[in-house]
Amino acid sequence: MIYKSKISDLLTLETPCLVVGVYSSKQQDHSFKKLDVASNGALRKILKTEDLSCEPGTSQLIYDLDGITAKRVLLVGLGKKKDLDPINFSKSIENLINTMQKTSCNKLSICLPLTDDLYTLAKEAVIKISDITYQYEEPKKASNEKNTGVNSIDFIVSKKTELNKSQKGIFHGEAIGLGIKLTKDLSNLPGNICTPTYLAKKAQSLGKNNKILKVRILNENQMEKLKMGALLSVSQGSREEAKFITLEYKGGKPKSKPIVIIGKGITFDAGGISIKPAGSMDEMKYDMCGAASVFGVIQSCIKMKLPINITGIVPASENLPDGNATKPGDVITSMSGQTIEILNTDAEGRLVLCDALTYAERYKPAVVIDLATLTGACIVALGHQASGLMSNDDSLAMEIEEAGKKSNDRTWRLPIWEEYQSQLDSNFADMANIGGRFAGTITAACFLSRFAENFKWAHLDIAGTAWKSGGAKGATGRPVLLLMQFLMKRCKQIK
Ligand code: BES
Ligand code: MN
Ligand code: ZN
Repeated sequence: MIYKSKISDLLTLETPCLVVGVYSSKQQDHSFKKLDVASNGALRKILKTEDLSCEPGTSQLIYDLDGITAKRVLLVGLGKKKDLDPINFSKSIENLINTMQKTSCNKLSICLPLTDDLYTLAKEAVIKISDITYQYEEPKKASNEKNTGVNSIDFIVSKKTELNKSQKGIFHGEAIGLGIKLTKDLSNLPGNICTPTYLAKKAQSLGKNNKILKVRILNENQMEKLKMGALLSVSQGSREEAKFITLEYKGGKPKSKPIVIIGKGITFDAGGISIKPAGSMDEMKYDMCGAASVFGVIQSCIKMKLPINITGIVPASENLPDGNATKPGDVITSMSGQTIEILNTDAEGRLVLCDALTYAERYKPAVVIDLATLTGACIVALGHQASGLMSNDDSLAMEIEEAGKKSNDRTWRLPIWEEYQSQLDSNFADMANIGGRFAGTITAACFLSRFAENFKWAHLDIAGTAWKSGGAKGATGRPVLLLMQFLMKRCKQIK
């Protein structure tokens, strides 16, 4: 998709389709009025018929409108003017793209509604369009279908100040869209292609051709030297070598503390010796969506040249049953020195994450956020709407919640009170790796909290939000949007 922003005269614009917003409230934008006058009130007449309610999600296509050169005009309902916000606007955008994809039209000229925040409208529109036009392409055999449909979009504004805002919105929207696309592509790849080694190579390719990103890969020998016993206890049942990937993005001042983002990178989770039931097990290729989101965030930051320091950490491994695999009852020693009794080898995410959390200490982080498809219990608790949020710092938690609301990539906070910790008691080690039947999402976070005592930390359980099942099976790219909102807000505060 090619995006541009232009100052154009609506009456003489040569375009296959001019898109104009229309409110359900009385007052209309200048663009609507101008077209209405030129066409002798044809647009008002349409509103009078009440065929178009003008609520978000409605639209009306008009051919050969008098007095203008555009081939088609698409009236798009925006609801009440006072309710127009970036989230509602992006819903209208989704509807209009879906409508126009059914026509032969390949280019749209969209009049941006006149609000104070043209930047955000343009940004959200571009992100939404990139989201809904996403196609998984990688190893599927090339289809003969021609790629028809809309491939070029102009945002039409009326003056220079608006042009600047909408151009900046397009630029940021494209950068975020690119990151989300990378996250989806990696997540959707099958486990036999997307192995820990594949992720490591991908990281290295992100670091190529730029000085802003430094990538390091640790192999299993190096992890042994660092005493990452928890991570290695997961990978020991797999023939694919585990990789510990760090991506240091240095866009900020050299001395400013990095934000560390850790992503669970289990490229396939069969459960290990505590093997999972067969139904839907294929979806456990998505157990690296946290890792894919780290890659997506870094990709967006590179594209945007975001002035901030971020360190991505991806502990990558498979979790498979094998003669050499860790068994229930085994006791292992994590990098922190704390010992863990493995009561269920399917609770492996926390094991790779705990060593990554300990490793994160060396960066003296401003904050640490981990992203993990950690517990099925989180889907039971929150469904597919919100990611679970748990944190040892109230203000960090609020900042993340706020970014989630703003970007419509929402979280819901769960408590990690001291009272839950005893569920992890073990007779044979410092802790067990599971906390019993109740509050599974919380006890998983309680486990992680024991490795996050030396910094401000938040944990996002994305088990219910990172991908969709059923007919629409596919990665969502969440929570990249939330994190980009969080990071961009932080940048404004630093300046
Ligand atoms: N990757 C899974 C969590 C998961 C399951 C995410 C289904 C999305 C859909 C994780 O490694 C896991 O297996 N967790 C166990 C923990 C249990 C053994 C305490 C779970 O949720 O059942
Ligand atoms: Mn598991
Ligand atoms: Zn898992």
